[in-house]
Amino acid sequence: MSYVKCRNVLLVGASGNAGKNILPALLADTNFKVSVLSRANSSATFPANVNIIHVNYSDKPALVKALTDQDVVISAVGGDALLNNLDKSIIEACLQAGVKWFIPAEYGFDFNHDSASSIPINNGRLENIKILKENQSNLAHTFVSTGAFLDWGLDTGFLGFDIANRMVTLYDQGKHLVSGMILKNLGKTIVAILHQPQLTLNKRIYIADATFTQQDILALFEKYTNVKWAVKHATTEETLKNAEEAWANGNILNGYIGFILGLAYSGKGACDFEDKINNQDLGLERVSLEQAIKEAVQRNEINVH
Ligand SMILES: NC(=O)c1ccc[n+]([C@@H]2O[C@H](COP(=O)([O-])OP(=O)(O)OC[C@H]3O[C@@H](n4cnc5c(N)ncnc54)[C@H](OP(=O)(O)O)[C@@H]3O)[C@@H](O)[C@H]2O)c1
Repeated sequence: MSYVKCRNVLLVGASGNAGKNILPALLADTNFKVSVLSRANSSATFPANVNIIHVNYSDKPALVKALTDQDVVISAVGGDALLNNLDKSIIEACLQAGVKWFIPAEYGFDFNHDSASSIPINNGRLENIKILKENQSNLAHTFVSTGAFLDWGLDTGFLGFDIANRMVTLYDQGKHLVSGMILKNLGKTIVAILHQPQLTLNKRIYIADATFTQQDILALFEKYTNVKWAVKHATTEETLKNAEEAWANGNILNGYIGFILGLAYSGKGACDFEDKINNQDLGLERVSLEQAIKEAVQRNEINVH
């Protein structure tokens, strides 16, 4: 498939961390007629100029109807929708509705890397990749690997840095490389992908601002906060073991987080793809790690104790 008409664009999960950064970029581009698909019982609110379709995702005919006439469907679903693999139902509905192009809710690991299959939370994504590749002559896909969301991951503490208390947990001494992008640029990334199908259709696209170690980040935080940070240590081996136990005991959230951190910081390669980055091909500028850390300090100074 060399060309996809790309006028009617539907975003699923537009109110989430990723979605609310994608939606404004789609709306700002007059080439697109944008719709949002949201849960029937969602309390999310959207700008007045968006066509909002509420649907009960377990109602398959309603889902197919909601996707009919859409050229492109972009998924940014999160939470339980990832655990239940909602994207698989959306892919099946896209195929029935005649949608031409689908971008699944990935935005993280390099799922082409062998180690991506080492954690159970990736099983659904890997199954979706297989289905999408098998059906690519009817429904094109673009897989988007972004590594860690640097701004989101630092502000929330997810990446192990506690900015307010000048504390960090270093995994494996913080020595392994991780790629990452600024989440607030995800919208520009998706728009660039839609505008360059010759580069992006039926491909995995790698987008990252920087590839770094936790130690690199720590050194920059110490520079910009002008103080030595307290360091705690963890190993990715024990993090993954604890995640497995938590997962088996039904502590899904702790298991989920542990699996992500344990794999991302392990140096196994599923989150380090500096040699494959497509930013330049798509005309996306890269933000330096130094700039990202400087901005993280500026954003969080008001929260410092
Ligand atoms: N690389 C990273 O560091 C990183 C960090 C965070 C997220 N991500 C990725 O980004 C993607 C989106 O994650 P997110 O954090 O943005 O998600 P999120 O904020 O938790 O949720 C996104 C949206 O999904 C919909 N949703 C939530 N629960 C649902 C359910 N049970 N069934 C159906 N829809 C549901 C909601 O939209 P409605 O209310 O409109 O239905 C919600 O606003 C995922 O692929 C995630 O892995 C990557």
